Amino acid sequence: MRRTVRGTSTAALACVAATLLTSVAAAAPGPGSPTVGDPYYPNAGNGGYDVSHYDIRLTYQPTTDVLSGTTTITATTTQELSRFNLDFGLRVSSVLVNNVAATFSANAAGDGELVVTPARPLAKGAPVTVVVAYNDRPSTVKINGFTSWVKTADGALAVNEPEIASWWYPSNDHPTDKATFDVSVEVPDSVVALSNGTLVRTTKNRTGWTRWWWRSTQPQATYLTSLEVGKFEVNRQTTPDGKPFVTAYGADLGDSLGAAKASVERTPEINEFLATQFGPYPFEAQGGVVTTAIGFALENQTRPVYGARGFIAGSNASLVAHENAHQWFGDSVAVGRWSDIWLNEGFATYAQYLWSEHVGEGTAAELAQYVYDSKPADDPFWQVLPGDPGADRQFDAAVYDRGAAAVHALRSQVGDEKFFQILKTWQATKKGGTGRIEEFTALAERIAPNRPVRQLLKVWLYTPGKPFAGPNGPTAR
Ligand code: ARG
Ligand code: ZN
Repeated sequence: MRRTVRGTSTAALACVAATLLTSVAAAAPGPGSPTVGDPYYPNAGNGGYDVSHYDIRLTYQPTTDVLSGTTTITATTTQELSRFNLDFGLRVSSVLVNNVAATFSANAAGDGELVVTPARPLAKGAPVTVVVAYNDRPSTVKINGFTSWVKTADGALAVNEPEIASWWYPSNDHPTDKATFDVSVEVPDSVVALSNGTLVRTTKNRTGWTRWWWRSTQPQATYLTSLEVGKFEVNRQTTPDGKPFVTAYGADLGDSLGAAKASVERTPEINEFLATQFGPYPFEAQGGVVTTAIGFALENQTRPVYGARGFIAGSNASLVAHENAHQWFGDSVAVGRWSDIWLNEGFATYAQYLWSEHVGEGTAAELAQYVYDSKPADDPFWQVLPGDPGADRQFDAAVYDRGAAAVHALRSQVGDEKFFQILKTWQATKKGGTGRIEEFTALAERIAPNRPVRQLLKVWLYTPGKPFAGPNGPTAR
């Protein structure tokens, strides 16, 4: 889903026949690109089409780790296509393109590329429906040498960044092609199946099994689409502004349960605060899932997932502030390239500083200054560039902490009024899409034209070594 092409499919439909005829005279249709060309992840995403919706309809059996079913992809072609790629690693049994069987090659090189050749070439600008049927054990599947699906004692988790989709549904796996989602997963009655957005309904079609149907109605990046199966305490509530608020706590949280609840149940209050800083909460639902099965947290759209160890030392509203700040910075406005990760982690970490100040703990200025003062100039920390850390260091502490100090340095330079104007304008103009650091820099320059914003971000994001001036400016100390 690229916002610029939304709404063209009806017109495109009327042109299919004409386009097919003229294509005879034009160049022969070629294959879609097997990549979007993101330098950090050369296999990520594909070219030649634009997905608008995924309808994922699966059955999962935890005792065997067998995942089976279909994903139906609704897309529009952006060129004539003799064949195209999806990103997917599981064993495929059939592919239909516009209801006609297609030939396919599934993960033949172990690189997670599903190559689909339709019976006849596809015209440019045409609606296309692709149905992929599959059946595999995701925990046994390696893509580019990695596993990403997590099998647990009573279920499984599809929660990871930047790559998880290919272990459970075929996709155009890059944040630049967002789509809406229906995720319907049938599991044994003893467990639950959670995903993003709103629970449309649960149904029981056969003895011993329940189907959980979740729906995301706003553009959502593929890696932010999650599945959690297992024994969870599920709480369905409503936020003060009337949105579904679904939280789920793993049945094995033990001593962490109290602290997890004391933190995650505050999500609506935290989002209400963040909305005063960034603009309106961007999605139709809120929530959180806490599990012992992962050692990190991830900002899955509408419903972040928290590793229980985040609450091992007691309640941690700061972590909840971080993951929910990503609903704005990361989810509603996603990275245009994975090298733009500062736009996610720098701002989500800075949101923790804002929350800290809001609740009367350390101020944002103090916390940013602490990052600066606590690392001597020869610390390798200062050699990682938040603006282009490299794929191996995408989640390095410097992306978070130097990244957040960089945000504060910008604030010190332009002043509070322009700073929050920049953040809110960024959110309002990029909502539902993607952004690049260069675009953010240009916006900041436009709002604060007589400040050396570009030079400041160059020093903080792209220059190795400890910046000469701290995040509160050269006169602050
Ligand atoms: N975006 C996540 C966060 O909020 C980081 C995820 C890191 N990925 C991982 N597999 N550990 O911090
Ligand atoms: Zn983060």
